[in-house]
Amino acid sequence: MTSLNATSGVGSVSNIGGLKAYVAGPSLVGLATIILISDVYGYKKPNLRTVADKVAAAGYLAVVPDFFYGDPVINITKPNFDFEAWKKLHNTDKGAEDAKKVIAALKAKGVSSIGVAGFCWGGKVAVKLASGNDIKATVLLHPSWLVTDDIQDVNIPTAILAAEKDGGLTPQQLIKYEEILSKKRNKFDSFVKIYPGTAHGWTLKYQTDDKVAVKKAEEAHKDMLNWFIKHVTK
Ligand SMILES: *[C@@H]1O[C@H](CO)[C@@H](O)[C@H](O)[C@H]1NC(C)=O
Repeated sequence: MTSLNATSGVGSVSNIGGLKAYVAGPSLVGLATIILISDVYGYKKPNLRTVADKVAAAGYLAVVPDFFYGDPVINITKPNFDFEAWKKLHNTDKGAEDAKKVIAALKAKGVSSIGVAGFCWGGKVAVKLASGNDIKATVLLHPSWLVTDDIQDVNIPTAILAAEKDGGLTPQQLIKYEEILSKKRNKFDSFVKIYPGTAHGWTLKYQTDDKVAVKKAEEAHKDMLNWFIKHVTK
C-alpha cells in the first residue's frame, strides 16, 4: 500500500493514462484487465475495493480509476450540495473520454484484453465504451440514465445486473433492453438479470455486517466475475 491509498484494499494507487487509479493484481504486462468504473461516490469506497480485490483474486489485473479527480459525491442528500452542477462537471461523456485514455495506456503497457464493469454512474460510462471495439466485454451494475439508444449501440458481450427496485431502470426498460440485445445474439452474447429484494446501488451500498445485504451483493459480484471469465480471455 502506498500513501496515496487512503482507504482499504490489497492493492495500491498509481497513475494510469493521467488518472489516479487503485490497482490490484499480480503484474501489468500481458495480463487481462478489468476496469471498474465507480458510482458517484468514487474509487476509494471500501466495498468497491473489495470487488476489485475479488477480480484480482480471480487472476485479472483490477484497475479502479479516480474519474472525479478527488471530487466524489460525499453526501447526495445534504441540502447545500448541488448534484446537478456536480453531474455537469463530472459528466459521463468526460468519463468515457477518460476511460479511453486509461484503456490506451493499459494497451501501451502490453495489456492484452480488457473488460469493463460500471456501477450506477459508471454503468452509463461503460455502455458508451460498449459501442466500440476497445474492450472485450462489459457488465452494467444498476446503471444510471440508460436510454434505448445506448443499448441499440452495444457491440460487445454485455451483461445488465439490475435491482428489483430502481426508479431509473424499470422492468419495462429492462424488457426492452433484453429484447434489443437478444436480437443481436447471433453477433455477441448478452445477459440481463433482476435480483429479487434489491434496490438501486445494492452491489456497493451495503453494510458489511448486514449478512443478507452482503449475500445479495456477493451474488451480483459472482455473476459479474463469471461474465468476465467467459468473455475476457486471460
Ligand atoms: C447527509 O446529509 C443529510 C442532511 O444534512 C443528513 O441527514 C445525513 O445524515 C447525511 N448522511 C451522511 C451519510 O452523512
